Amino acid sequence: MAEIAPRQCFYGRETVEKILPAGATALPWIHMARGPQEGRVALVTGASRGIGRAIALRLGREGAAVLCASRSSRPGEGTVEELRAIGVPCAGLAVDAGDPDAVRQSCEAVLRDWGRVDILVHCAGISRDNLLLRMGDEEWNSVLRTDLDSCFLWTRHLCRSMLKGRWGRIIAIGSVVGLVGNAGQANYAAAKAGMVGFIKSVARELAPRGITANAVAPGFIETAMTAALGEGVRRAALDSIPQKTFGTAEDVAAAVSFLASEEARYITGQVLAVDGGMTMVG
Ligand SMILES: NC(=O)c1ccc[n+]([C@@H]2O[C@H](COP(=O)([O-])OP(=O)(O)OC[C@H]3O[C@@H](n4cnc5c(N)ncnc54)[C@H](OP(=O)(O)O)[C@@H]3O)[C@@H](O)[C@H]2O)c1
Repeated sequence: MAEIAPRQCFYGRETVEKILPAGATALPWIHMARGPQEGRVALVTGASRGIGRAIALRLGREGAAVLCASRSSRPGEGTVEELRAIGVPCAGLAVDAGDPDAVRQSCEAVLRDWGRVDILVHCAGISRDNLLLRMGDEEWNSVLRTDLDSCFLWTRHLCRSMLKGRWGRIIAIGSVVGLVGNAGQANYAAAKAGMVGFIKSVARELAPRGITANAVAPGFIETAMTAALGEGVRRAALDSIPQKTFGTAEDVAAAVSFLASEEARYITGQVLAVDGGMTMVG
């Protein structure tokens, strides 16, 4: 496996700075602003592909500057390059989302260079499925670390800037599996259920300061994560979905967009299932 650097940042501001009027001192993305998230800074973990990519692109199209964190972020490629191509101020952070030191360093760099983070979306996630009796320590620990520890680490560092601004949106991408469980996914279900408890607690702590914290619980969404599943599993999943179709990453991004909006200011501590009705009958 390729070695993962603890932290590498690359930024897309040069392009933006070129279009600023000479001598302008205001933050560059304010000049690029359009849409409901204008002037906001969003950070999305797990933004390199799938659901995180769709969320990053959606928030970028809505006017936010978008910082994309994942282990495979590389300058000049991936989501950051897509954002740059449509004129969104952006940056890539090559970071293991569950590594405490790397997350601390990344957050320090982000706050130094971008001033604050207003919208934090936890989307980095992995699954390592196995039946309980066969599940090894590594399968348990790696999933808990990537899916759950990461929420704590990024939120702890970045909520301070939201507190200062008295505005913030924290959104965790959980799973319906965290609500109803799933055989062979005790690690993943525990991590996603833990996210819900974490989000509800954070929501209570930060509510008086204009910060909301919510979770989105996707059902079966067509991404690389689900493409790896066998035909039998996919058929069984389809049978359990009242809408009889799989969801898309854009369906999840639409829910995140709403929860991140000003209109959702009175919604906090909630879990919004995006699952074609799957858990409604669970
Ligand atoms: N697809 C579904 O049906 C579904 C359903 C319910 C919930 N979800 C949740 O939605 C989220 C995204 O899922 P997806 O289907 O889009 O998965 P995906 O296509 O496998 O993408 C996972 C993302 O997480 C990043 N990631 C994984 N480990 C990381 C680490 N240690 N540090 C930083 N980034 C890491 C990956 O980037 P790198 O590999 O570059 O690090 C990638 O950007 C996950 O939390 C997943 O549990 C998905």
